[in-house]
Amino acid sequence: MCGIVGYIGYNNTKEILLNGLEKLEYRGYDSAGIAMLDDNDINLFKVKGRIAALRQRVNDTAASTMGIGHTRWATHGAPSAENAHPHQSTSGRFVLVHNGVIENYQELKRDYLDGIAFGSETDTEVIVQLVDKNAEKYGDTAEAFRQTINLLKGSYAIGLIDKQDKETIYVAKNKSPLLVGLGDGFNVVTSDAMATLKETDQYLEIFDREVVLVNRNFVEVQKLDGTAVTRSPFTAQIDVSDTEKGTYPHFMLKEIDEQPFVMRRIIQEYQDEHDRLKLDQDIRSAMKTCDRVYIIAAGTSYHAGLAGKRLLEKMAGIPVEVHVASEFSYNTPLLSEKPLFVFISQSGETADSRSVLVKIKEMGHPALTITNVPGSTLSREADFTLHLHAGPEIAVASTKAYSAQIAVLAILAVDTARAKGFELDFDPLQELAIAANAMEVLTEQKETIEELVRDNLGTTRNAFFIGRGSDYFVCLEGALKLKEISYIQAEGFAGGELKHGTIALIEEGTPVIALATQENVNYAIRSNVQEVVARGANDIIFSMKGLERDTDAFVVPQVHELLAPLVSVVPMQLLAYYAALHRDCDVDKPRNLAKSVTVE
Ligand code: AGP
Ligand code: GLU
Repeated sequence: MCGIVGYIGYNNTKEILLNGLEKLEYRGYDSAGIAMLDDNDINLFKVKGRIAALRQRVNDTAASTMGIGHTRWATHGAPSAENAHPHQSTSGRFVLVHNGVIENYQELKRDYLDGIAFGSETDTEVIVQLVDKNAEKYGDTAEAFRQTINLLKGSYAIGLIDKQDKETIYVAKNKSPLLVGLGDGFNVVTSDAMATLKETDQYLEIFDREVVLVNRNFVEVQKLDGTAVTRSPFTAQIDVSDTEKGTYPHFMLKEIDEQPFVMRRIIQEYQDEHDRLKLDQDIRSAMKTCDRVYIIAAGTSYHAGLAGKRLLEKMAGIPVEVHVASEFSYNTPLLSEKPLFVFISQSGETADSRSVLVKIKEMGHPALTITNVPGSTLSREADFTLHLHAGPEIAVASTKAYSAQIAVLAILAVDTARAKGFELDFDPLQELAIAANAMEVLTEQKETIEELVRDNLGTTRNAFFIGRGSDYFVCLEGALKLKEISYIQAEGFAGGELKHGTIALIEEGTPVIALATQENVNYAIRSNVQEVVARGANDIIFSMKGLERDTDAFVVPQVHELLAPLVSVVPMQLLAYYAALHRDCDVDKPRNLAKSVTVE
């Protein structure tokens, strides 16, 4: 969620900070700011709104060799310039940026900061005021910083600058992502290697409750008691061109179009030289020995989990429960004797999922993370990881990660079935290749979908998606896509459920998008369509070749029924894209949303 960039080195601080923040824009934010240290003072710039406005504001600033920048997604206090970070201590000596939530900020304020005049409504400001107070007490900034961090409860990625020390950015983290990037004569701090990839591809991981002193020539990682920790850097495996839009008007459209290539990359990555499935033996045996799989995820990843349940149950014969992470963490259901937890997360940073992971690890259960970011928190803290190989997903609305999740779950299901000795009439790599070709055909039919949007969703206030079986899961995803980027109120329903109440909302012309890709329910879903049409609904049916009828609005190419979600989701994504475009919405950065949701 939101992000941090810090730089200490030569004279180009302003550009590195602003460029870095622009790269982090995709994570979602409502305000932004930077602080740069020059020979005399700290220069602080904060705006509500976009980085472009911040860029205007800092245009004529003097050169600086160190600074910190921040994009904020407000949790405490409204989005405003006052609440934007960096926050400065009342004495003016320290400035600080923070991502996350300080759960005990009120207690800290009451116990240590009585009488201090606060300049913002944020939880964050207590940290910088506490550092200032502790600096007076201990006479040493590093010690003051460690003592302060020790008092914090909650999640944080923090960067701090001391006006009296032009050689160090002080950094700390707990739960929220933060990395230190290593350069020659400079170093950077970033929430995501993608933001500073132009500067360096060498990064140091920071573990929870560590502090780091980042100097221009060296970096010192410490535990909270001050003892030094040694750690080797890793090379960030991101292609800079993957983080650019190229000729596309939006990242979302680029990422929808990338889906066939992602499928082919997954086929390559999960295949050995004898064309057999290639999966870690430990994952295979964890899958084989568990008595139940608990899938934990949020949003689109949760929808992929529902499709995964069907794949795992049908092919590998393992009972699967799919849980919304935020519910599971506070209302844990009864568990089976040998559960295996599977976390599905594009970012690998979702706080709701992470809190379940922490909980089930305390209970001693094994965990597998399926993610697009192998070094992410959920990946590091689980026992095993399966990589999605989807390449960076920048648009807030997840598209290629969803299809990659389903493809990897299909591979996992087949691998488990084979490990259990089941005979399957399903070659996953071949079926995925067929699905990839079908997706490619669909991405070439944009004009047809755009026309459907113009004719059916132009001015509507709401829309319903209905389907049965795995079509129902895709309906949930189609509705989420539509509402998050076009702001049309959209809901996905199991086809048979609408008549139990929601049908009351159907009026003359209400768009009802129906999916019909599953043979066993083709007749049933079409009856459900008739029920709403009889009440005035405007039906728009997306069927699969072989099951189509003359009046269907759109027919997707035929693929294996179990992989139908991979292809039927493409027109759903395009519907949402064009609906958002026609309504002049900010497709890649929808209001109120963040890309990786690192608060609970
Ligand atoms: C969907 O388009 C996203 N906006 C959102 O629902 C997302 O899928 C969810 O926040 C989970 O994120 P994750 O996959 O990174 O854990
Ligand atoms: N909780 C802090 C605030 O509201 C930080 C939010 C963020 O992560 O951007 O200012």
